[in-house]
Amino acid sequence: MSQLDQKSQAWSALFSEPVSDLVKRYTASVDFDKRLWRADIRGSLAHAGMLAGQGIISVQDLTEIQRGMAQISQEIESGAFQWKLDLEDVHLNIEARLTQLVGDAGKRLHTGRSRNDQVATDVRLWLRDEIDLISGLLLDLQKALLELAEKNVDVILPGFTHLQVAQPVSFGHHMLAYVEMFARDTERMADVRKRVNRLPLGAAALAGTSYPLDRQAVADALEMEGLCQNSLDAVSDRDFAIEFTAAATLAMVHISRLSEELILWMSQNFGFIRIADRFTTGSSIMPQKKNPDVPELARGKTGRVAGHLVALVTLMKGQPLAYNKDNQEDKEPLFDTVDTLKDTLRIFADMMRGITVNAPAMEAAARKGYATATDLADYLVKKGLPFRDAHETVAHAVKKAQEQGVDLSELPLQTLQDFHASIEQDVFDVLSLRGSVEARKVVGGTATQNVREQVRAKLAALGAASR
Ligand code: ARG
Repeated sequence: MSQLDQKSQAWSALFSEPVSDLVKRYTASVDFDKRLWRADIRGSLAHAGMLAGQGIISVQDLTEIQRGMAQISQEIESGAFQWKLDLEDVHLNIEARLTQLVGDAGKRLHTGRSRNDQVATDVRLWLRDEIDLISGLLLDLQKALLELAEKNVDVILPGFTHLQVAQPVSFGHHMLAYVEMFARDTERMADVRKRVNRLPLGAAALAGTSYPLDRQAVADALEMEGLCQNSLDAVSDRDFAIEFTAAATLAMVHISRLSEELILWMSQNFGFIRIADRFTTGSSIMPQKKNPDVPELARGKTGRVAGHLVALVTLMKGQPLAYNKDNQEDKEPLFDTVDTLKDTLRIFADMMRGITVNAPAMEAAARKGYATATDLADYLVKKGLPFRDAHETVAHAVKKAQEQGVDLSELPLQTLQDFHASIEQDVFDVLSLRGSVEARKVVGGTATQNVREQVRAKLAALGAASR
């Protein structure tokens, strides 16, 4: 029996008794870290290839290791592999099976390596692939938002500040705001990826190793962009996981803000949109209900991901150099962050494609709150009034309109002229929702021409990015 097989009894000759079942369960991570198996095997093969290249193990050993790992991959994929709690984690499970399959060559694999640099490598390799998937999903969500924007460039809804009607905006413009957020999330993921994609292997337990390893060859084999430069930092650094989770949290925060708007917009009081029925559920008691469960859950899950970020920074804050077992606790928050973000992005891209916009309801709402008052002030400024005076003059006009229960555009020209003599017939162009929107041609403004151009440019850029 190999030493690893005997682990259920005790670690090594040094130990006089095995751990209790409770301690075994408490310290094991295999139930959750087995999902790292592909990265673990990939990292081991790169390490073994380099060991052989450096003459540290024989080419015969390498061939045996490759053969064993191929079989293990097959066993894991088919579900035949027997994961053992006794073997604690994914690394020891795979290594023990390898030794069972290929004997001494398997025992030589761990030369010049420790589980400390091994696990750090595995998590980085795994996370790198997940980041690539997430980046693709972020692009697809942007695409869905752009398609919805394009369809509804001409629809006007009230823009709010303090959730009070402020100024009319194009619905396309409103969607573009979220495109900006998710574009920043995509940039952040690309930036995090650079620091994820560095190689800890070679740090061994903490101090480096006395074997003549070629770390660069391993990095090249694993398509990593650089080597971790300090062995102590290499095995203990989890910044990359924290950074990723911070970026994921921000993406979820953006999803959550969008969710909040969708929930408001589909309530009876707004009636701005409909979400396809496959994203809503009914009530077991109130037959008339259609509830926005998906956006509500996304809003809720944002709290959970933000919690993972707090868990990870708290995990690190008290740790002395170098590796501590605390770090095993990085996995569940990280894994759940990845799973939650991926599901959420997928479902949102689909959901945004199934939204129907109620343009008349949006425009009616925009007409309610004197949304063009700023336009009247700007009109007076163009006639020569200082802005502050124009602001005050319009406040009086709004007060008058409120008293009469009408919109500014419904006040007769003569009444308007009582507030300022310079007001002429052309004021009514300015007081219309359309006039207000189209006047905002400044870069980043809501004029439909701007929105249309931005949508087109961004769709083209996305098309190029996914090619
Ligand atoms: N399962 C461990 C983890 O996730 C692997 C590293 C164990 N290293 C050690 N020195 N006990 O962190």
